[in-house]
Amino acid sequence: MKKAIMFMFALVLTLGLSSTVMAVGDGTGIVGSAHDFTDGVSPRGGAVASPDAWNTSGELCRVCHVPHDHGVAGQRYLNGLLWNRDVSTETYTMYNNTWSASIDNDQLTQPGGISKLCLSCHDGSVAIDRFDTYTGGGSSMTMENIYGGALDALMIPDGAVGALDMRGTHPLSIRFDNTVDVLLNDPNATAMGTSGNIIDVLDLDQRVQCSSCHDVHNQESAPGTNFLRVQQDIPGNPSALCRTCHIK
Ligand code: HEC
Ligand code: HEC
Ligand code: HEC
Ligand code: HEC
Repeated sequence: MKKAIMFMFALVLTLGLSSTVMAVGDGTGIVGSAHDFTDGVSPRGGAVASPDAWNTSGELCRVCHVPHDHGVAGQRYLNGLLWNRDVSTETYTMYNNTWSASIDNDQLTQPGGISKLCLSCHDGSVAIDRFDTYTGGGSSMTMENIYGGALDALMIPDGAVGALDMRGTHPLSIRFDNTVDVLLNDPNATAMGTSGNIIDVLDLDQRVQCSSCHDVHNQESAPGTNFLRVQQDIPGNPSALCRTCHIK
């Protein structure tokens, strides 16, 4: 009964949204989301003709994962999760304890884990069509250029490739041990969003990664957000995403 009510609620919510602006994240799955590269639709670069024509595989998952590597482009699978893309070779200036003395938790010297996977498109250094057997179209096919500049704002970090400065992005690949920083909630006892997943499961190594805040498959993202796991402008509960982790 509860489930049926939830379903009706989700349906009403979905219908309500589709009659206004298509949300980038609406929690209904990857199909039709910004990460669906088969539908020829770009929520941001919509005016560009056939925006997903570069995905000659015609497949949804293959742009990021592949079931068998077939020896293509040397051991991409070592990045985990059957990864099917070249990852970035950039060196980043990190938001770390050299930059901010109040950082307490242990941090990797460069982004690692899942953040590395997101950056394989979002840092703008690797052609988006460089996956599977495709060698990619070079700089004209990077995040910055692929839809005629329409995706400039989606570059993380924002700025020129070659000196990628992460000091303007939330600290990455940093542990969230609340015994080290007592102003953090307990990652083993705090749920992230409505999924019921505790903060701790969002990365294998108890580290904050892009996936701590974003849901790449749009299954648990809050409606109307940038694939965010928790909505930020809830009346009476503002910046709820930040306050899921931070006691502030
Ligand atoms: C295959 C390359 C690729 C990978 C890998 C990838 N993205 Fe994306 N992402 C894109 C593209 C391209 C868009 C914009 C699509 C469009 O507008 O048509 C996008 C859109 C987004 C958006 C929505 C932005 C908006 O319009 O509000 C977010 C947030 C995002 N990605 C985060 C992530 C995160 C976090 C990861 C890793 C967990 C990730 N992406 C992995 C290519 C990628
Ligand atoms: C834009 C790139 C992208 C696309 C497209 C994509 N994934 Fe993923 N996938 C990721 C990233 C990044 C992660 C790690 C982050 C996470 O787990 O949330 C991941 C994690 C996973 C995982 C392991 C963790 C989990 O959520 O269970 C599975 C399974 C998975 N993907 C399956 C799929 C399938 C099946 C498809 C196609 C229907 C797909 N993915 C499409 C990027 C992508
Ligand atoms: C601590 C939470 C957090 C982490 C970690 C995080 N993001 Fe975000 N991200 C946000 C929020 C919140 C927004 C909503 C827009 C804003 O507030 O600037 C956002 C927006 C975005 C957007 C939309 C463009 C924009 O600036 O509006 C993209 C793309 C994106 N993030 C990708 C990433 C990638 C890739 C990573 C990892 C390298 C990452 N994010 C790590 C919280 C996070
Ligand atoms: C998934 C958990 C998580 C989320 C969500 C999150 N943070 Fe953090 N944040 C952390 C951790 C862990 C640290 C590192 C704390 C430490 O060890 O000092 C951190 C560090 C920071 C710092 C750096 C503090 C310093 O000492 O320099 C700022 C600022 C910050 N977060 C703000 C935010 C804001 C704003 C949001 C919401 C957009 C947010 N955080 C969301 C976990 C999170």
